[in-house]
Amino acid sequence: MEKFVMEMHQIEKQFSGVKALINIDFSLKPGEIHALLGGNGAGKSTLIKVLGGIYKPDAGQILINGKLVNIQSVQDAQKQGIGIIHQEIVLVPYLSVAENIFLGREPVTKLGIKDTKKIYREAQAMIDKLGIDINAKQLVEELSIAKQQIVEIVKAISFDVKILVMDEPTSSLEENEVVTLFSIMRNLKEQGVSIIYISHKMEEIFRIADRITVIRDGTYVGTCEAAGANVDDLINMMVGKSFERLFIRTSVPTDDEVLRIENISKNGVFKNINFTLHRGEVLGFAGLVGAGRSEIMSAIFGADKYDSGQIYLEKRPVKIKSPGQAIANGIAMVPENRKKQGLILINTVGFNITLANIKSLCRHSVIDKNRCKELIKRYIKTLNVKTSSPNQIIQNLSGGNQQKAVLAKWLAINPKVLILDEPTRGIDIGAKQEIYSLIDKLSAEGMGIIMISSELPEIINMCDNVCVVREGNITAQLSKTELSQSNIMKYATKGEDKDEN
Ligand SMILES: Nc1ncnc2c1ncn2[C@@H]1O[C@H](COP(=O)(O)OP(=O)(O)OP(=O)(O)O)[C@@H](O)[C@H]1O
Ligand SMILES: [Mg+2]
Repeated sequence: MEKFVMEMHQIEKQFSGVKALINIDFSLKPGEIHALLGGNGAGKSTLIKVLGGIYKPDAGQILINGKLVNIQSVQDAQKQGIGIIHQEIVLVPYLSVAENIFLGREPVTKLGIKDTKKIYREAQAMIDKLGIDINAKQLVEELSIAKQQIVEIVKAISFDVKILVMDEPTSSLEENEVVTLFSIMRNLKEQGVSIIYISHKMEEIFRIADRITVIRDGTYVGTCEAAGANVDDLINMMVGKSFERLFIRTSVPTDDEVLRIENISKNGVFKNINFTLHRGEVLGFAGLVGAGRSEIMSAIFGADKYDSGQIYLEKRPVKIKSPGQAIANGIAMVPENRKKQGLILINTVGFNITLANIKSLCRHSVIDKNRCKELIKRYIKTLNVKTSSPNQIIQNLSGGNQQKAVLAKWLAINPKVLILDEPTRGIDIGAKQEIYSLIDKLSAEGMGIIMISSELPEIINMCDNVCVVREGNITAQLSKTELSQSNIMKYATKGEDKDEN
């Protein structure tokens, strides 16, 4: 008989009437990397939260090394050697990296007080061992999302894990960071750790996984060896129908200027930024994580200051000093980190959708409830947000559906300029297609769209023109015919023949 380190049998879980998991089976072999694949809201995060003691299943059993176990809490799960890196970062922002890694189990000195020196020393050693450039003394809130994610990983493996679960760990990582992560994973695998790996990135799954299990709408669809699987079959298993075209770009830009940026600079962050956006144009911003793309856009949106330069909206100079002024001028921005900037997680889906739009929904300073309701309904439908009702608390939505709700919130103000920062991060292939088709539709209606993206296929297939940013400078402005992965990468990184130092 085959040996499993962990088996889940017939797991069921409901949330106030919504069936999130129905009779799910899932098993894990020693030292295997098992990918869990499924669309947004399929139940992936719920399943691993059951394994991690965060949710109690309504029915079903969990066996560890063939023995029935009762996992009632996160501590129970840890005792069984289960470590989980969640989809949403759960570090404490105002504590240091080291304090986060040792949170709740800080080593103490002989006198019984927190041994800060030891905490920093040991945390730094763990980080260094992985060959990552992070200072253990730094506050977590000062780190990029990518680095925060790496801290989560260090923290999870610092417990003696036998089973490591990673819920979309690479959604905000650069390729070189993904390479680091994968080498950490292979290393752990060699030490006999089994890994459950959740990702929407098919190519990564083929690179790293041994087996793949697909779930759809809370039900088990099938398990296969990664070596014999093919992408089309997997997508069909995920979406339950055959899948056509991913990228949709039918309309063409006008030469009617909507936004012009002249020489804006911010000391030490970006310099002499110039570009023009036209009605109906999708203008891409490519570059490596940290190149300064989000910072440039935050400045244009008024969320950050800039030192000099001028912004023109429809050829008129404008001063934008706050997001409120940007919104009043018809500029909307969907931020990169939805948890931090995009949503009020403890409020409802409906409330979040109307959040940026409250003013226009008021009559004589009183909110027009019917217009509100109608608007919420329309956007839930347009974006196909999977929610039990508009009154659902947004943090209970799956990651991908939260992302759609952020988009709905900004579309609801019907902007002239829409800035999207990594709009398809962490969303499944079906939802991606919906977002691409929406971008195409909005630009056809005359909206000017700026899209920051680290996914080159998305940039190449969706954008009319692309600015490549490196170290706070626009190093190239490429038109559609000049777009290729190698051309973009050449300007995004320091090309060998272009050493400027
Ligand atoms: N605490 C909760 N309360 C109510 N509903 C919930 C809760 N947690 C999850 N759900 C619902 O259960 C379903 C499965 O969600 P889950 O987060 O497991 O999906 P997922 O497969 O991880 O999706 P994604 O790829 O978008 O992260 C969704 O319909 C979600 O709205
Ligand atoms: Mg999830």
